[in-house]
Amino acid sequence: MTATTITSRGSGSSASVFPDGFVWGAATAAYQIEGAAAEDGRGPSIWDTFSKVPGNVADGHTGDVACDHYHRYAEDVRLMAGLGLAAYRFSVAWPRILPTGAGRVNAAGLDFYDRLVDELLGHGITPYPTLYHWDLPQALEDAGGWAARDTAHRFADFAAVVHDRLGDRVGTWTTLNEPWVAAFLGYCSGVHAPGRRDPAAAFRAAHHLLLGHGLAAWALRAAGAAEVALTLNLAPVIQSGDGHEEAARVDALMNRQFLDPALRGRYPEEVLEIAARHGGLGHIRDGDLAVIHQPIDLLGINYYNPSFVSAAPGEPANPAFPGTEGIRFDPPTGPTTAMDWPIEPSGLETLLVRLSRDYPEVGLLVTENGAAFDDHLVDDADRDADGDFDGDVVKGTVHDDDRIGYLDGHLRAAHAAISAGADLRGYLVWSLLDNFEWAYGYHKRFGIVYIDFETQRRVPKDSALWYRDVIERNGLRSA
Ligand code: FCB
Repeated sequence: MTATTITSRGSGSSASVFPDGFVWGAATAAYQIEGAAAEDGRGPSIWDTFSKVPGNVADGHTGDVACDHYHRYAEDVRLMAGLGLAAYRFSVAWPRILPTGAGRVNAAGLDFYDRLVDELLGHGITPYPTLYHWDLPQALEDAGGWAARDTAHRFADFAAVVHDRLGDRVGTWTTLNEPWVAAFLGYCSGVHAPGRRDPAAAFRAAHHLLLGHGLAAWALRAAGAAEVALTLNLAPVIQSGDGHEEAARVDALMNRQFLDPALRGRYPEEVLEIAARHGGLGHIRDGDLAVIHQPIDLLGINYYNPSFVSAAPGEPANPAFPGTEGIRFDPPTGPTTAMDWPIEPSGLETLLVRLSRDYPEVGLLVTENGAAFDDHLVDDADRDADGDFDGDVVKGTVHDDDRIGYLDGHLRAAHAAISAGADLRGYLVWSLLDNFEWAYGYHKRFGIVYIDFETQRRVPKDSALWYRDVIERNGLRSA
């Protein structure tokens, strides 16, 4: 596969064309969009519990209704088809399939994903399910959650149950989404479910998530899965002042704590030293790293921004990063999104090039990239009357030029990485729909499709129409 850059003579501008077969798509996650939290036998997850505790989520928002995708999935698939998406990444809600995390299988839960997969395939869209996007069944949390080793085994059982039902139609299986976030925001800083603040539990959770990945990857492969993937949140760690060792330490905690066990069968020394000081290493048993180090076909990359750090003697550890005493996480100095996250497309190129250099055996897929901005729905156009959009009938529009700029910049960076030799196979925008953005509730809109949460009306933003054009031409227009 090659990436080409076509330069029109005289203009000096260049169009970026992606390799043939490059996979264009969009991503979502179950708890963020499905709603129907208590329907058809779904059990409670840690996010149901956590979001109902006052103070945990902005304005007390919950995923009870979200985008009502559970009932509106067919409309949503039509929208995807209208945009020309080739791939759709969604997650399977564990508590819909196994309401108490283990034991009794809830057939109605499997039926939903069965219908969704058929609907996608019927529209020529390849399903990319993720098995764990943070909605652990509450019953398993009550038994210790990811801090307990047994949860890893229960996860592999869950993976096998889902594969048994969908494996005839799904080729690529992603085990986990962002285990760093699940472990360290869930069990250490406590800003995500289950809201625990226990660094030792977080290191145990990280290891058990990785073990669960390895056991599930093995089970999926044994059941005949064509491709197995793992999605990590990865970010270049940039030293903004003094502090080479400090930047390397944050890189080890954030990136290599997961990359190295999964792809090299070992933990970075720095991580072992820090974990040893926070509860010890007794949870890492002989043979675990061999289980974790299963061959995988694809590494999913969720990239939003780099981290900037510098040495700052006396600084206490960041609440999400035990072991970062003496390190300051520097605030962004340039442009930011509505999350206050820095906009730094070059970070994606740096990351992709580094991954293909350090872990050349694995294919790369951007499984999330996107931005929240303060979008406003304006009723200044009837898109269907204009012949502008051939999905569902919509009225109104969102002029999200800032999001288009963000996506355009990151796609140019991805293209540059491919030109530099990175084996990048596709790009999935986060997100298809505005949705429940965890602790921020519905206040942060990441969608290329606007959701009016009062009426559940879907309105493709300008960025959706721009993305449709990118997909159609398999690349970007001249800059
Ligand atoms: C990622 C999550 C995803 C979404 C985006 C903005 O960390 O995987 O669910 O919240 O951030």
